[in-house]
Amino acid sequence: MAASPSTAPAPSSSASAAVVFAVNGERVELREGDVDPGTTLLEFLRTRTRFTGPKFGCGEGGCGACVVLLSAYDAASGAVSHAAVSSCLTLVHGLHHRAVTTTEGLGRAGAGGLHAVHERLAGFHASQCGFCTPGVCMSLAAALAAAEAKAKAQAGRRPDDPPEGFAARLTAAEAERAVAGNLCRCTGYRPIADACKSFAADVDLEDLGLNSFWRKGDAQASKLPRYDEGSIGVFPEFLKAEIRASSGIDDLYTPPALVGSASTWHRPRSVEEYYKLVGSELFGESRTKVVVGNTASGVYRETEVYDRYIDLRCIPELNSVSKEANGVHIGAAVSISQAIEILRVEAGGCNDVVFCKIADHMEKVASPFVRNTASLGGNLIMAQRDQFASDIATILLAAGSSICIPASSRRLTVTLEDFLQMPPCDHKTLLLSIYIPRWTPIGSLSGGKTMDGTVSKIGTSVLFETYRAAPRPLGNAVAYLNSAFLAQVSSDATSSSLMLRELCLAFGAYGSQHAIRARNVEKLLVGKPITVSVLLEACRLLKETIVPKEGTRHAAYRSSLAVAFLFSFLYPVTEGTLKPLKAVHLNGYVTCGTNGNPNCGPDAHVDVSLKKINDVNSGSCTNDRILEYSNQIIEINKDYLPVGIPTKKVGAELQASGEAVFVDDIPAPKDCVYGAFIYSTKPLAHVKSIELDLLLKQLKTLGVVTVKDIPEGGSNVGANTIFGPEPLFGDPVTQCAGEPLGVVIAETQRFANIAAKRAVIDYSTENLDAPILSIEEAIKRCSYFETPPFLLPQKIGDFSKGMAEADQKISSEVKLNSQYYFYMETQAALAIPDEDNCMVVYSSSQCPETAQNVIAKCLGLPCHNVRVITRRVGGGFGGKAVRSLPVATACALAAFKLRRPVRMYLDRKTDMIVTGGRHPMKICYSVGFRSDGKFTALHIDLFINAGMTKDVSLIIPHNFIEALKKYNWGAFSYEAKVCKTNIATKSAMRGPGEVQGSYVAEAIIEHVSSMLSADANLVRHRNLHTVESLALFHSECTEDAMGYTLHSICDQVTASETYQRRLEIIQSFNKSNKWKKRGLSFVPIVHKVLSRPTPGKVSILNDGSIAVEVGGIELGQGLWTKVKQMAAFGLGQLCPDRSQELLERIRVVQADTLSNVQGGWTTGSTTSESSCEAVRHACNVLVDRLKPVKEQFQEKQGNVSWDELISKAIMIGVDLSAREYYVPGPSGSYLNYGAATSEVEIDLLTGASTIVRSDLIYDCGQSLNPAVDLGQVEGAFVQGIGYFMNEEYVTNSDGLLISDGTWTYKIPTVDTIPKQFNVKLLNSGFHKKRVLSSKASGEPPLLLAASVHCATREAIRAARNEPHCSGFGPSPSHFDLEVPAIMPVVKELCGLDNVESIWGATIASCSFSALCDKRCN
Ligand SMILES: Cc1cc2nc3c(=O)[nH]c(=O)nc-3n(C[C@H](O)[C@H](O)[C@H](O)COP(=O)(O)OP(=O)(O)OC[C@H]3O[C@@H](n4cnc5c(N)ncnc54)[C@H](O)[C@@H]3O)c2cc1C
Ligand code: FES
Ligand code: FES
Repeated sequence: MAASPSTAPAPSSSASAAVVFAVNGERVELREGDVDPGTTLLEFLRTRTRFTGPKFGCGEGGCGACVVLLSAYDAASGAVSHAAVSSCLTLVHGLHHRAVTTTEGLGRAGAGGLHAVHERLAGFHASQCGFCTPGVCMSLAAALAAAEAKAKAQAGRRPDDPPEGFAARLTAAEAERAVAGNLCRCTGYRPIADACKSFAADVDLEDLGLNSFWRKGDAQASKLPRYDEGSIGVFPEFLKAEIRASSGIDDLYTPPALVGSASTWHRPRSVEEYYKLVGSELFGESRTKVVVGNTASGVYRETEVYDRYIDLRCIPELNSVSKEANGVHIGAAVSISQAIEILRVEAGGCNDVVFCKIADHMEKVASPFVRNTASLGGNLIMAQRDQFASDIATILLAAGSSICIPASSRRLTVTLEDFLQMPPCDHKTLLLSIYIPRWTPIGSLSGGKTMDGTVSKIGTSVLFETYRAAPRPLGNAVAYLNSAFLAQVSSDATSSSLMLRELCLAFGAYGSQHAIRARNVEKLLVGKPITVSVLLEACRLLKETIVPKEGTRHAAYRSSLAVAFLFSFLYPVTEGTLKPLKAVHLNGYVTCGTNGNPNCGPDAHVDVSLKKINDVNSGSCTNDRILEYSNQIIEINKDYLPVGIPTKKVGAELQASGEAVFVDDIPAPKDCVYGAFIYSTKPLAHVKSIELDLLLKQLKTLGVVTVKDIPEGGSNVGANTIFGPEPLFGDPVTQCAGEPLGVVIAETQRFANIAAKRAVIDYSTENLDAPILSIEEAIKRCSYFETPPFLLPQKIGDFSKGMAEADQKISSEVKLNSQYYFYMETQAALAIPDEDNCMVVYSSSQCPETAQNVIAKCLGLPCHNVRVITRRVGGGFGGKAVRSLPVATACALAAFKLRRPVRMYLDRKTDMIVTGGRHPMKICYSVGFRSDGKFTALHIDLFINAGMTKDVSLIIPHNFIEALKKYNWGAFSYEAKVCKTNIATKSAMRGPGEVQGSYVAEAIIEHVSSMLSADANLVRHRNLHTVESLALFHSECTEDAMGYTLHSICDQVTASETYQRRLEIIQSFNKSNKWKKRGLSFVPIVHKVLSRPTPGKVSILNDGSIAVEVGGIELGQGLWTKVKQMAAFGLGQLCPDRSQELLERIRVVQADTLSNVQGGWTTGSTTSESSCEAVRHACNVLVDRLKPVKEQFQEKQGNVSWDELISKAIMIGVDLSAREYYVPGPSGSYLNYGAATSEVEIDLLTGASTIVRSDLIYDCGQSLNPAVDLGQVEGAFVQGIGYFMNEEYVTNSDGLLISDGTWTYKIPTVDTIPKQFNVKLLNSGFHKKRVLSSKASGEPPLLLAASVHCATREAIRAARNEPHCSGFGPSPSHFDLEVPAIMPVVKELCGLDNVESIWGATIASCSFSALCDKRCN
């Protein structure tokens, strides 16, 4: 855990004093009025300094892209403390006397050299698109700096220095946890974790994954870029001097209060000053915000503009900590990270279980970079006033805490319970401190506190435990329900059972106003021997008590969690018909022998080990590693060097050091203004008017650009595909919620965003039909887009005949929802008007050529007037193909109208709402099969929800069917309909249609095998294609037996002894565990890809350096890296031994639609290879031109260097630039193969799933770059895990997306990927028709993630065989497992009342209920 710098800023020396701080060692001084007080550090850095390393990924504290290091200097002790903070939440005016380090501050490629953090991230292949990388670097850097500071503080007490090159005592577990809050959509996290662990002193370097520092078996620390202690967060001497000089002065000269001052940022220095401020007239009239860490602005997105801010961190009382024998008072402005440290110290290891557990739980609140500035008091105020789903309120409530607030001249202490129940406090209420009492186990210490504050006379033990069930185990996700329980337990002499003497059961976050105590349940349980029948009654009562308010999602699940947590807590103290317990083991705390029942002992068959999956650990367990050793197997081919070498990704270091330039990093041109979409919130309505909130004068808006601003000759077009254009703005009728209606222009991006959110739109639905919001409604109203027949794959055989041959037939349906792209860089464009009606647009697009066409059409200009430039894209996944076009076009339109540069960088919410995502579908199937599991016929009715426009939806049936045909279905027929509905247009997302098709094939297999009571994996094997049937089903992709590697892949993953052994282990695990079950599944894939024509241009410049232009865009997929290798290989024919040297002289340059025309689209996984092939052809042309020159020259003087050759060629007038347009022809369409096994463990109490292990084998042909391809495979697989397991896509009744940010939309994080993640790239060189025998890797591996879903289904199936999870009718093994299989879904399938069932069954199992009651009571 990172140490926090004190959150309290050093006070300033006068009312009008500047805010002085340092950024990367440079002095920054802000004077009053310099920047708006609501300016965040991120906005300041990105718009007022040249440091654009920190990125805007969410603005909610939920992604980590903006993380910087914040350092504080304590003049008294001379100590410097460091912490990672999210710069998107930190207000720049609150940084007085702080030092900020961005990733550029660690080191730069150009000046001074890169830092080891940058180099290792790059060398471990941990950066793909690179948008998350600066934030990852800074989270890691902060952990290193904190570990170093901790070591310094403990100097002398630790015997050994860490080995050279390693960090000061950072452990591998800490290294992994350092990045637990950072989102990355590309890499799949494994390489990021490895790069971080390379700094840990306790890591075995051989356990780290593929890297560019060593070959397997030759790992040595000396090969790693050296890490020097003290190299991170050096606090500038000038700032130290200023701090030293100002300390003391402030006390004497700072005016008591700033009342009446024109200042917009106030730092009261006492409670009295605070009240004077808020009581003054000025404050009554203005919009004032009181802040500490300002992290609430991440929870409740800011749509307000404030005139004044009051920063509470200079009030000493709010920062103080006072320790007493009976407890600890913690100031309300103390950060959560500091509170954790205080409690750990107070807990004395784990001696004080309450403090220790509270600290453990707090480590699951948000992420390190939020906890470091988020205050305890802020959290409790949000819980009390805003009904925030706080963890802290719940755990402190259970611990009997109280809070202190000022009342007149007194200090009033109120119990937390009373405080929470009070009416919401007003905005002037000040929370001073929080008191957490010490709970001493009575029996070992006399005088311990009881819950009513009296001293207990009975020998008891304190039991305390906290729980949270949340989508992510390590935090960075708000809980579905949290709880904390405190009990005093003693033994009852007469019944020899354990008795709860006192009890506090606190629950929160479940959709309640605030955390509550379940007092009725406490009352029921206290004072009675704990028996099963009492517990059953308690469960019933608890379910009646923990009732989420109406509209809360997964309400029944949340109530069931309350029971599950109570069960976990009390199970060990139950007796009666269950086996008696030897000792009570809760939270590692054992009841003292004299009190405990001597016959007690945990029942070996009842594993109430909930904690391991999703809850807090006792302090010592935080050293548990998240990930285990994983294996990557690649084979390097040397046939076409340097093609085939696993070189580092081009530009990875620049991405790490923040020097890589994305669209929003381009310095704003003079007079640049900013645009934000105003979008519809209604599905089908006339837009009568759009008004801006004129009250917000500070927003400095310049107006709204709408359809009326489209120039004469132009048209309302915002996108175009082969299926036709779509409008830019919904006019005059908006067709869906989320459709852009206009662009508001303002002087900053933040102001534009706020103005857009606050725009008032007047709608009317007069004379309009009801909107179509579902597939069912579209079917009813026959609302379809017509699919051209040439796009529909062939049907196979005679379906009726196939059905007639079947022994059994079944029919069912599958529904699949959408998935959002969640590229880390949202859609961005910068449009700059040029002379003579020209427009230059920088666009983060996967298809700049189409952007050029659409912009030209919208503006009524010839295409040659529009230049679209794309250098790199911060992740695309299909979402920056068609969906990037409206952004680039709207931006260009605004720039055209205003005749000044306009930038648009969509905020995350808008991006999520307007860009659509993956296609939702409904699939009805009828399948016939024989008793041995062999299919005879399949018919599919496929309904695809395309949304309001066609986009590329008409290709989705093709993609779906092609992927579904991975098995031999016998006869196969289908009907496909593309539904036109009033929801945001859906577009292609990585594996579009294919992921659904491949998954539906598995769902059918699972259904069939459950009907046959057969092993699903056997059914899979039985129906894999032979070469002959493959040729029938995929006639256009002819494959010979050598090329069809799927059987050998499947054999490798499932036929091994290890696999069989694992199956047995899982069976025995399931037998001996009641509350955890495991499942193992394997999934094969056959994935067709299609190459498209693309250009490649190679130019050799005067000095012999080489510039390469390709149609393909670098999205993070390593396209430039492969192209560079290919260019070196191609030109290397002129100097075969020096192709490696040539590699260093090649630069792939940005795409420019006026320089390299017909660039096409970067989609469909094949653009890298096509671009490579185009470049190879262009190189061949140059080689043909240069070869004679070389030969001529060689004849005369022998050896010729590259430079000499080029000079000579220039002299004799050889054209040194060649452009080729690669057209793939029929061989451009081919099949990819792979298979994966996954093992998943589910928790029957919470529904949590853990991916224990995944093994992937993927046939990449002869990989052009195995490091790049491995990264694609891992990243795609994890994105697939997101689709199948995590990412809940929720819309409101108007079809408007409401899971619209990091808060509600949960992509995988480092703690949700497979614990063990093994990948093998099958390096088959059989594919001679492919580009240098290579195959695609970008999309197909995503389909393999279905193995995780199938394994979860297996685990649920095992659960449903348990008596306590039964009650699912006659066929418990067949059930629909939704996609995504989130916790509530899994729990529901395992029985929301499985706890009650087991206790009910326990009672029933007594032969005579009377006898049972006698025993139990
Ligand atoms: C991404 C993210 C994830 C999170 N996850 C969790 C989670 O899992 N569990 C959880 O419990 N919390 C979570 N939080 C909430 C977080 O703990 C709170 O945002 C934080 O503690 C608020 O503290 P702050 O200092 O930033 O408050 P600020 O944002 O500065 O203030 C919040 C509100 O409290 C008021 N306020 C602050 N201090 C005082 C005071 N002393 N007296 C009176 N009023 C005051 C302010 O005026 C403001 O209205 C998360 C937050 C974020 C951004
Ligand atoms: S941008 Fe700050 S955490 Fe996402
Ligand atoms: S590399 Fe992490 S988001 Fe792209």
